[in-house]
Amino acid sequence: MKAIVIDEPGDENCMRVGDVPTPDLPAGSIRIRNVAAGVNRADLLQRQGFYPPPPGAPETLGLECAGDVVEVGADVDRFAVGDRVMALLPGGGYAEDVVVHAGSAIALPGALGYEEGAGLMETLLTVFLNVFQLGDLPEAGGVLVHGGGSGIGTTTIDLVKRAGGTVVATAGSREKCEKCLELGAHAVANYKQDDWVAVAREATGGRGVDVVLDSIGAAYLERNLDALANDGALVLIGLMGGAKAEISLGALLTRRLRVMGSTLRTRSVEQKEGIVTAFLERFGADLAAGKIRPVLHDVLPMSEASEAHRILKASTHFGKVVLRIS
Ligand SMILES: NC(=O)c1ccc[n+]([C@@H]2O[C@H](COP(=O)([O-])OP(=O)(O)OC[C@H]3O[C@@H](n4cnc5c(N)ncnc54)[C@H](OP(=O)(O)O)[C@@H]3O)[C@@H](O)[C@H]2O)c1
Repeated sequence: MKAIVIDEPGDENCMRVGDVPTPDLPAGSIRIRNVAAGVNRADLLQRQGFYPPPPGAPETLGLECAGDVVEVGADVDRFAVGDRVMALLPGGGYAEDVVVHAGSAIALPGALGYEEGAGLMETLLTVFLNVFQLGDLPEAGGVLVHGGGSGIGTTTIDLVKRAGGTVVATAGSREKCEKCLELGAHAVANYKQDDWVAVAREATGGRGVDVVLDSIGAAYLERNLDALANDGALVLIGLMGGAKAEISLGALLTRRLRVMGSTLRTRSVEQKEGIVTAFLERFGADLAAGKIRPVLHDVLPMSEASEAHRILKASTHFGKVVLRIS
């Protein structure tokens, strides 16, 4: 089958369309004829050799896809050949055929096209896991998300607003800040010039946010803690701003703050199935009704994977970039 292959890790030009073996279909899995695949920041790291796939996962890039079920493995009863699905993957999305555990897939809502479905699973489940489950966002709670214009940021704005919470987003330009407001953010801060701690506190009546969803890391650690309300949680999902920082543990102690790190990709298929089930219990009706959609920045053919990575690197996108596979 055709897939994006990488002969040597490197810059965007190291990717090309080539041939790889079609994956086997173990029990409990489905084979998807892949129509479209989402592009994620993690793919850029893997391409450069910094983020190897977990043991047993395909070497091919790609953490999410949408397409048609063409084969069903033993012990799978929730999907049948011909079903339209979208799936969370540990890898392998930039390829014509994808094999994934059935518990990591969701029926693609009728109102959504494949390209929309391809850009949903990674961000929906990451935001749900980290803001609602690990962060334990209270009813009508407040969330601060960095990179409001990213796939993760746009989904956070949508889900938190849908849940009745307050969402504050940071972004690096006036245009992106305005788009975050249009999408439903209650307050925004241009992180290059504004005091986003003050913006987050003001938006929550002075008390601070209940959850910070952070992909920056060291550079923001101290200010993230300042932006939290007492008993709040900082959930770290990326390290774009470095991995080493020093803080006073006094704030954690006296304000009862929680700091935790989290990855979705390395979790077991059982854990992923649990996250999918809990997500559907909370947001499944809105998803099925076509109310939850990704913000699609661009859709490019698989042969232009290099260009898709350049867009993410330059951060000229707002929302998701998707590859059309077939
Ligand atoms: N741990 C997990 O399970 C998990 C899962 C999914 C994603 N992630 C992480 O979540 C992050 C977002 O992923 P994505 O695929 O949605 O990324 P993306 O679309 O490539 O967006 C990255 C965003 O980071 C923003 N950014 C860069 N520097 C910033 C700064 N100093 N302050 C605030 N924002 C800044 C950019 O905003 P501007 O253009 O406005 O500068 C851009 O919108 C990545 O770090 C990714 O690795 C983690």
